[in-house]
Amino acid sequence: MAVTPRALTALDVMRDAPVIPVIVLDDVAQAVPLARALVAGGIRMLEVTLRTPAALACIQAIAREVPEAVVGAGTVRSAADAQAARDAGARFAVSPGFTVAVGRACRDLGLPLLPGVATGSEIMQAQEEGYTQLKFFPAMQAGGVAMLKAWSGPFGDVRFCPTGGVSAANAGEFLALPNVACVGGSWLTPAAAVAAGDWGRITALAREAASLARPG
Ligand code: 3PG
Repeated sequence: MAVTPRALTALDVMRDAPVIPVIVLDDVAQAVPLARALVAGGIRMLEVTLRTPAALACIQAIAREVPEAVVGAGTVRSAADAQAARDAGARFAVSPGFTVAVGRACRDLGLPLLPGVATGSEIMQAQEEGYTQLKFFPAMQAGGVAMLKAWSGPFGDVRFCPTGGVSAANAGEFLALPNVACVGGSWLTPAAAVAAGDWGRITALAREAASLARPG
């Protein structure tokens, strides 16, 4: 009997590495070498944000040409975004906030979603829709480590991916929290390094991020 591979889950996405890179690409020619550079450093869950005209083509290129990577779409704000991302080959989605429409669209598409939350009410709405692995965004601006500690009581069953203002300097403080499964951030892919094609620098940043201590 054929064995069906288990579907990717949001928890798989969060647990693969300590950091999910938040990627902004203007040029599709940069997508494949950038993805390969991150994979070479040990980071393979890649969030390409739907913020540029090139984003969907970048997702498509990575999905086709870098099988070692698992490419997802970030900045998913509507059901249409989710559909376009999935059609381009995205294997997971990340949203900056939570709406029932986006949550249901991703579920219908079979796309694991990390929805963004910044308040207790948003966490409760996401949980009502079955989401318990959440992005905390914007993490630093919305209360940082102290906020996550406060949430660990009433929302002890939720695991977070803090994103927004997280860097190599403070990632360790977040990763030390029991309710944090990983962090997200753009620091692995500095715009200047991407523009210059400095893939060695990006591999070095990825390697450093991949070696951060994981939550117990
Ligand atoms: C974003 O969506 O832009 C991410 O939160 C990245 O934030 P950062 O640039 O502060 O890492």
